[in-house]
Amino acid sequence: MSVKLAVIYYSSTGTVDAMARRAASTAEKAGAEVRLRHVDELAPDDIIDGVAEWREHVDATAGEPKATPDDIVWADAVLFGSPTRFGNVASQLKQYLDTLGPQWGEGKLADKVYAGFTAAKTDHGGQESTLLALYTTIYHFGGILVPPGYTDPVKFEDGNPYGVSHGTGAEGDVPLGDVQEAALDHLVERVLDVTRRLAGES
Ligand SMILES: Cc1cc2nc3c(=O)[nH]c(=O)nc-3n(C[C@H](O)[C@H](O)[C@H](O)COP(=O)(O)O)c2cc1C
Repeated sequence: MSVKLAVIYYSSTGTVDAMARRAASTAEKAGAEVRLRHVDELAPDDIIDGVAEWREHVDATAGEPKATPDDIVWADAVLFGSPTRFGNVASQLKQYLDTLGPQWGEGKLADKVYAGFTAAKTDHGGQESTLLALYTTIYHFGGILVPPGYTDPVKFEDGNPYGVSHGTGAEGDVPLGDVQEAALDHLVERVLDVTRRLAGES
């Protein structure tokens, strides 16, 4: 079975974007059909213009396809990515989730596999609370959450059993390392594996 995986994310300055691209690339190499989708930006231009990396990222991704409700309906499995915002999900991703009432009402979000990833500046600044906040929505979908737990040795290195997270450092300039990339690869492989098993394949 070729799993249909939607990677739906928000990123202001590119960190979560890099995580999403890694996840998408790993999934494609594993034979999945992937939709990589950035949600719509909501912040006003004058605020975006105040942060050079934010403007750069918005401009660099402007031509790429944006997430629509159909991307979840289409998918067998969904990975959501959001930067931490005061320990919570970014409003841009939340706005996308909040457009899904009709699909939720028709039961079209249920029985799919879901997991998440995030980034924050500080190690204890909301990496876990953001994922837990995101997962509240998944329960309402009737989704099947597939957290990584400590199901691979890499989880004892990245240390987040709720999903995958990356600390960018106070200046926001620490790039993804080998450990975070390996943790993302593991999350993707686990999500694909469980999705296939749910479809009756092992
Ligand atoms: C409004 C706002 C709130 C933030 N809240 C937190 C926070 O609670 N904890 C933290 O460690 N970092 C926080 N950050 C830093 C971001 O999480 C960090 O820059 C982000 O993960 C980078 O992801 P991106 O490059 O994909 O946008 C915040 C940033 C902004 C703009």
